[in-house]
Formats: sequence, C-alpha cells, structure tokens
Amino acid sequence: MNSLKPSLSPAPEDTPFVEFWNEVLAPKFIRFKHILVDGLTQHSEAVFSSLPVQRGDRVLDVGCGFGDTAIKLAELVGSDGEVVGLDCCDAFLEYARKDAFAEGAGNVSFMRGDAEIALPSRDFDFVFARFGTMFFANPVAGLRNMRTALRPGGRMVHIVWRDRVDNPWLSMAKDVVLRYLPQPGTGAQTCGPGPFSMSNENMVRAMMQSAGYDNIEFRRVDAPVLVGNDVSDAIAFQLAIGPAGEVYREAGDTAEEKHNEIEAALTDAINKQKTSADGIVMDSSSWVITATNPE
Ligand SMILES: C[S@@+](CC[C@H](N)C(=O)[O-])C[C@H]1O[C@@H](n2cnc3c(N)ncnc32)[C@H](O)[C@@H]1O
Repeated sequence: MNSLKPSLSPAPEDTPFVEFWNEVLAPKFIRFKHILVDGLTQHSEAVFSSLPVQRGDRVLDVGCGFGDTAIKLAELVGSDGEVVGLDCCDAFLEYARKDAFAEGAGNVSFMRGDAEIALPSRDFDFVFARFGTMFFANPVAGLRNMRTALRPGGRMVHIVWRDRVDNPWLSMAKDVVLRYLPQPGTGAQTCGPGPFSMSNENMVRAMMQSAGYDNIEFRRVDAPVLVGNDVSDAIAFQLAIGPAGEVYREAGDTAEEKHNEIEAALTDAINKQKTSADGIVMDSSSWVITATNPE
C-alpha cells in the first residue's frame, strides 16, 4: 500500500471562519464535549456498520473534531489501512492525537487544514464527514475537494442536519432566546453558513452534482440526543453553542441584562422535554448522504 503523506502547504492565512472556530468555538465545544460527542455519535452509529469501508482502505475524515470517528474508522480499516483526520481547529486535534495514542491506534494520523482550500491526497478509498460540511462557506468547493481527494470510484459519506423543525435540540432554544434578543445582524461573527445549511435535499443534491459526484443518495436518521445532564447544564449548553448561542453571543451586553428572563424562559421550556437516566433529551434528525467519485 502506498503510504499517505499527510502534509499540506499551510493556507496563506486562516479565513475568518477558521479563526472563529479556533478562538471562539473551540473552548465552548471542549466545555460541552460530553454532550456533543454523545449526540453526534447517535447519528454516525446508525450507519457505521454499513459504511462502504474495507480492511486495508485509505480513509479521510474531514472536520474530524475530537477524532472519535477517525479512530473508529481506523479500527474498520485495520493495520493494513490508514486514516487521516483533518480539522481546522488545533485544540480538537490535540484531543484526537491523545485519544488515538491512548487507544493504541497506530494507523490514524491527524492534521490541521481547511477543507475548503485543500485536502491531502487524491487517492483515498473513502472520505467521511460527520457534521462538518455544513460549515463550508463555499460548499461546492469543499465538496469538490472531498471528491478529488478520492480515487476514481471512491465513495463518500457526509452527515448533516435536516430541517430545523425536526431538530428542536438546536432550534427550540433559539426561538425562546429571540423573544428577548434581536436576530444577529449581517455582520455577525459566525462559524460559517451553519447547522441547517445542508438541510434541503434538492439543494444539496444539486451542490453535489456540481461538485462532480454520482450515485447521490439520502437516508434520514432520527435520534433523541442528550442536551444536558440537568436543566442548568442544558441552558449553559444552549447559550454557548448553536443557533441560540449565536443570538446570545451577538447580543453582547443586552444578553447579560436579559439573562435572568432568558434563563427562566429556557428553564420552563426545557422542563417540558423528555428525560433519560443521563439527563434532558430532545429530538434530532440528520441526512446521511452517500455518493461516489465517477470512475
Ligand atoms: C460540528 S463539528 C463536528 C466535529 C466532528 N466531525 C464530530 O462529529 O464530532 C464541525 C467540525 O468541522 C470543523 N471545520 C469547520 N470548517 C472546517 C474547514 N473549512 N476545514 C476543516 N475543518 C472544518 C470544525 O473545526 C469542527 O471540528
């Protein structure tokens, strides 16, 4: 097997989105890692056993975050295979490298990169992304980079959120917060287009066709996800990350002034949700999108 050389010329400078991930979002994602990894895993576990991955394959995990899916993919490809996890956020990659080392996963490596600018090779057998592609400012460019990282006939799977009405775990708190705070303005600092930017099947199919893929298929996955160990954990999570977090962050001092009212309204709304032994649970829904790079 050709050894992958996961090297990439650094981008001239980070885009504002990449800066935002590193400077603003990374500390929040690390604080709520227990919620995020658990919730996102519900969606990948639903399809992991049927992924088109074989022993010996070379795999790229785009926007790999804390590295858990890359490490699982490394188990699937075995010691003859190889996995590269790529993310634009240094802090996440530190967790990924540490966990891979702790688990003795010698066939996975992690690299920093911006998937919209460049990906490391053109001959991966499989490219995967769990909830990473919705943040591409230019989604066709990012999806095309993922396709050209594949060998001819190689396969890809990316998982994205479906519509906001099917994802109350992300949308409900925003509706509550917007009763007290304004919508973020056009100049708001963001992580990119955002979690629902790939929810529309027809639009994403068209993007993927423009990016050159064949055999594009969508499968819906619904899963209840934990949003907090208790009500205060859930409120802190919602005000830090996702659409409600963006409204709260952008409102600045006004958010601080209205904090008690917002907290009371969120407590009321969260108390109406389901609970499990681990805490508060809400519904979520994703598309698992599969496609091939033409031969
Ligand atoms: C919602 S998180 C998902 C992380 C991981 N895939 C998971 O499911 O736990 C989105 C990830 O995409 C990464 N990301 C966003 N834009 C990116 C880009 N242009 N290039 C590489 N990674 C990117 C972020 O740093 C973040 O780790």
